[in-house]
Amino acid sequence: MTVHKIAVIAGDGIGPEVIAEGVKVLNKVAELDGSFRFEFTHFPWGCEYYKETGRMMAEDGIETLSKFDAIFLGAVGAPGVPDHISLWDLLLVIRKKFDQYINLRPVKLLKGAPCPLKDVAVEDIDMTFIRENTEGEYAGSGSWLFKDKPNEVVIQDGVFSRTGCERVIRYAYELAKKEGKSLTSISKANALNYSMVFWDQIFAEVGRDYPEVKTYSYLVDAASMFMIKDPKRFEIVVTSNLFGDILTDLGAAIAGGMGLAAGANLNPERKFPSMFEPIHGSAPDIAGQGKANPLATVWSASQLLDFFGHEDWGKRLIDCIEEVLTDEKVLTPDLGGTATTQEVGDEIIKKLS
Ligand code: NAD
Ligand code: IPM
Ligand code: MN
Repeated sequence: MTVHKIAVIAGDGIGPEVIAEGVKVLNKVAELDGSFRFEFTHFPWGCEYYKETGRMMAEDGIETLSKFDAIFLGAVGAPGVPDHISLWDLLLVIRKKFDQYINLRPVKLLKGAPCPLKDVAVEDIDMTFIRENTEGEYAGSGSWLFKDKPNEVVIQDGVFSRTGCERVIRYAYELAKKEGKSLTSISKANALNYSMVFWDQIFAEVGRDYPEVKTYSYLVDAASMFMIKDPKRFEIVVTSNLFGDILTDLGAAIAGGMGLAAGANLNPERKFPSMFEPIHGSAPDIAGQGKANPLATVWSASQLLDFFGHEDWGKRLIDCIEEVLTDEKVLTPDLGGTATTQEVGDEIIKKLS
């Protein structure tokens, strides 16, 4: 029997509520399959832990996590702890230390999911965002000079290395080639005259190895407009860290909402564990009320199954989500229902069985 060792960081706010359903669903899948099982180890890291210890994770947290096959993360962030501390010392440090340079985020409208756009067919919104996940605008490089003085200056660097750009762009080309889809690069070279000129140059350079892949290149402002006006233009999309962050929340808004948006942080070489998470935050406005939609977490569980080679089960989970959506019987309030987080998780289990 294969054992997949998963580190669970449920985190803050609605994190523990949605992760409980994700774990339940993964255990059910393993039980039904019979050839593999999950061994979950829970870590109490997050903002409560910070308030008690002054740290977001244990001092040897990265070392501890490195022994796992994958990480399943809920959400991080709580009122009372500055976001730049809570996120940098937990989520972002994991993405960087484990070189999870691919952030794979499906923006796919499932049957039954609400879409605020008019005249859009379900199949018109079917994109895969590949977001650079370790550098760019999130390099964490900069300085704060003359703090609190009238001549205060703040500098936040964007760091775009050749290796960093090439590897994410190549990954996107490979995916487009494998799936027979077009590839769109989203950048902003008209204003960002170093970083994005370089990005565009590398997109063209790497593209020479993939003559069969149809490519498009948009400025990020125009791309945001086209995602609303004509979403079917986009199939595989590759973009920088910050643009990918923003555009995938926009993507979530047109594909059913934050409660349905999943993401995988991948280290493709598998030298380090990859991390699977819903892309939403800790949603303090609804935390502790059983209102959180667990379907984004279930979708990220599906990505985890894909990553471990159980694509049939990954696909089955997406089908179950779609069945729950089209039934319209057991849905959380964000999707117009009255069901609790747990009831939606139970419904997925029922569909699986
Ligand atoms: P958010 O994603 O937590 O919430 C935005 C809105 O979406 C809220 O109205 C919330 O109720 C709703 N929402 C989110 N997830 C939902 C779900 N599963 N079901 C139903 N509704 C859902 O974003 P925010 O309010 O900007 O951030 C809150 C905190 O989370 C901040 O501390 C932020 O830094 C952090 N954050 C963490 C992550 C992460 O851990 N991956 C991601 C984004 C934000
Ligand atoms: C996401 C989140 C994070 C990001 C934050 C919480 C640092 O918004 O995963 O989309 O910007 O990457
Ligand atoms: Mn985000």
